[in-house]
Amino acid sequence: MNSLLGRHFLSLQDFTASEIDALLDFAQELKGKLKKGIPHPVLAGKTLGMIFQKPSTRTRVSFEVGIWQLGGYGLFLSSQDLQMGRGEPIKDTAAVLSRYLDGIMIRTFDHGEVEELAAHATIPVINGLTDLLHPCQALADLLTIKEKIGHLDGVNAAYLGDGNNVAHSLLLGCSRMGVNLSVGAPEGYQPLEEIVKKARENASISGSKVTVTQDPREAVHEADVIYTDVWASMGQEEEKIARKKIFSPYQINSELVKLARPGALVMHCLPAYRGEEITEEVLKSEQSVVLDQAENRLHAQKSLMAMLMA
Ligand code: CP
Ligand code: NVA
Repeated sequence: MNSLLGRHFLSLQDFTASEIDALLDFAQELKGKLKKGIPHPVLAGKTLGMIFQKPSTRTRVSFEVGIWQLGGYGLFLSSQDLQMGRGEPIKDTAAVLSRYLDGIMIRTFDHGEVEELAAHATIPVINGLTDLLHPCQALADLLTIKEKIGHLDGVNAAYLGDGNNVAHSLLLGCSRMGVNLSVGAPEGYQPLEEIVKKARENASISGSKVTVTQDPREAVHEADVIYTDVWASMGQEEEKIARKKIFSPYQINSELVKLARPGALVMHCLPAYRGEEITEEVLKSEQSVVLDQAENRLHAQKSLMAMLMA
């Protein structure tokens, strides 16, 4: 029996380690089928509505292509075109969309809106990024680490930069799956204490370790994986210049990479701002797996949709 059927995917925290393992295993199976040209229409006749209140390249394309490859159909729903944009309550939108669709993916600002949508929908709701979390990204990242290193347990990952949505989901996902995570972030921009607390609770069960430091060199010490994200997220555009100064010591450049373990994977959820959080040289280096990460969004989310909606 598939324990994920009909569930929402708002945070990795809502899923056990064995459920996440099952998602990763099925993602690998679907990826193998796709590469061999074996059809896998497990969502034939199903529909996914995709609500976007923020821009997207990877999330939109990977979900739309993913549902199509599974035999279903994806509808791109810009919030500007929905009545929601004119003030129709989220709860009404959730109830109405539940009468047409088999699943909803939403990208928005306030995490509470996604929770409200899920509370009033009778179909699975998938979080495609909020200001708080980006669980689809972390799922694809775990898949990438597992594929590249061969396992998750005991891997040392370091995240440098802003303690944002991507950092939060990595904290929850890594700690649950036994990946040690060391976050290097400046004062005032560290991940939320409530997320770090949950991650530490997860880590005490999985046997992993969660560290938060202001020292970027300490964060990458002994790292098998070095990860970064933009310094100013969507919605923080006017802080961009101020943040550039604050975050400059956290840039992933060749000097910092040298402080990690030899051959450490370099990861970035993309889009990247070259010369800011990462240098062109490192982004293009052999150690960089950013395109595999981007590709794995497709496979991880296909697994997710199939397990929630089939
Ligand atoms: N990484 C990611 O979510 O990219 P998009 O904003 O392009 O969807
Ligand atoms: N932290 C970034 C991630 C983009 C995929 C943002 O929220 O803009």
